[in-house]
Amino acid sequence: MCFSLVNKYNVAGPRYTSYPTVPYWNVDKFSLKQWKENLKKAFEESNTTEGISLYIHLPFCESLCTFCGCNKRITKRHEVESPYISAVLKEWDLYCDLLGEKPNIKELHLGGGTPTFFDSKNLKILIDGITRKAKLADNYEFSFEGHPNNTTETHLQTLFDLGFKRVSFGVQDYNPIVQKAIHRIQPFENVKKVTEQARAIGYTSVSHDIIFGLPFQTEAHVAETINKTKELLPDRIAFYSYAHVPWIKGNGQRGYKDSDLPTPSIKQNQYQLGKKLLADAGYYDIGMDHFALKTDSLYTASVSETMHRNFMGYTASKTKVMIGLGVSSISDSWYAFAQNVKGIEEYYHLIESQIIPVFRGHILTNEDLIIRQHILNLMCHFKTSWIDSDLYFEEIPEVLSKLKEMEDDGLLKKELNQIFITEKGKPFVRNICMAFDLLLQRNKPETQLFSMTI
Ligand SMILES: C[S@@+](CC[C@H](N)C(=O)[O-])C[C@H]1O[C@@H](n2cnc3c(N)ncnc32)[C@H](O)[C@@H]1O
Ligand code: SF4
Repeated sequence: MCFSLVNKYNVAGPRYTSYPTVPYWNVDKFSLKQWKENLKKAFEESNTTEGISLYIHLPFCESLCTFCGCNKRITKRHEVESPYISAVLKEWDLYCDLLGEKPNIKELHLGGGTPTFFDSKNLKILIDGITRKAKLADNYEFSFEGHPNNTTETHLQTLFDLGFKRVSFGVQDYNPIVQKAIHRIQPFENVKKVTEQARAIGYTSVSHDIIFGLPFQTEAHVAETINKTKELLPDRIAFYSYAHVPWIKGNGQRGYKDSDLPTPSIKQNQYQLGKKLLADAGYYDIGMDHFALKTDSLYTASVSETMHRNFMGYTASKTKVMIGLGVSSISDSWYAFAQNVKGIEEYYHLIESQIIPVFRGHILTNEDLIIRQHILNLMCHFKTSWIDSDLYFEEIPEVLSKLKEMEDDGLLKKELNQIFITEKGKPFVRNICMAFDLLLQRNKPETQLFSMTI
């Protein structure tokens, strides 16, 4: 990897799980009333044909991992489980009442926090309560995030019996020095056990999350982690770049110093090494940070160009509507985004008052909708074309000059009205999306909002 390119393109940039990105939402032009109208419209247009996706945020964790950027609440008090599950089910009732017709669930994902913090019996109450009010679409996909240290065989069996066929386990790194720094002691044997149990029960896709760029992590640690991962051959691997965002309230990324982190060029070497080792082990690079074996449905979706990206990450099918339940969850009706309150007490209070607990959102303009599609094309297929697009990028000098510079650096190939990201350009996909992000270009942030792109 060319260090001058790393230096040049290592800037703060969004991960584009949405466009517009959250800091650029026009919250003043958003209201709960508009959210409900937009959601209803998208639901009526798509519920019978493609169905909807559901994301449920389960925020509790027993112990704080100091690298973690997710919305979580640390507690060992398991009495929190039941009130939380009943609040989520009440929120689902509010949505079902609004939508009228039975939702047709195509995808459901339990994320966190740690879904496996919850007892299996409570997870069953949750899923039964959700599906009682809904229909299941053909080939529906249910998935969850499991913590290898607390996922039990009963969790795996209970969720499998409820229709879950996909699970992802947080691995991060196997080296003891790194594990100590991130306050997450998790031996290989724990990951091996849950991976093998999931396979034996019949899960068709097991995924592992690995991170590079962690404190004290070296290239050798990344290689050691990938070599161990290869022994278990998960169907998918998320190989994330550590997002250092210590200014985000409550995320606790303070257990180490900035100087304990690898430099951008070392981090880039870790990525290149990891990517090579994953390719040697039979994994295909299917999108930003994501790798899959040829037998996995996400690989098939990437080849057939049906892969989609939303707040849950990459998914094999696209639905116009995604409803996010639970604290901090973001919902998407394609025409609008809405985010739930982040505090648990406030969430309970709104639910008890029969109010959908949304506190901010954004209604997409026509320009947003066009750019959103280009960013999705780049993130999912590493190419985009604007032949039929209303917004003609050939006439926008800011976009053109950025694309020209990236073409000169070999990151992309440009033809009239279309671009293709090269192999060399794939690690810079966030930077290439930024060229299309007109909101970011018109209003450059004065303080750092996003993690660094490398
Ligand atoms: C909600 S956790 C997964 C489930 C469970 N809580 C666990 O830790 O095993 C989601 C994943 O996000 C990733 N993640 C969290 N914070 C991150 C950060 N700052 N940078 C990059 N990835 C991060 C980790 O790989 C983690 O496994
Ligand atoms: S990485 Fe997982 S277990 Fe650790 S604090 Fe974050 S959400 Fe909780």
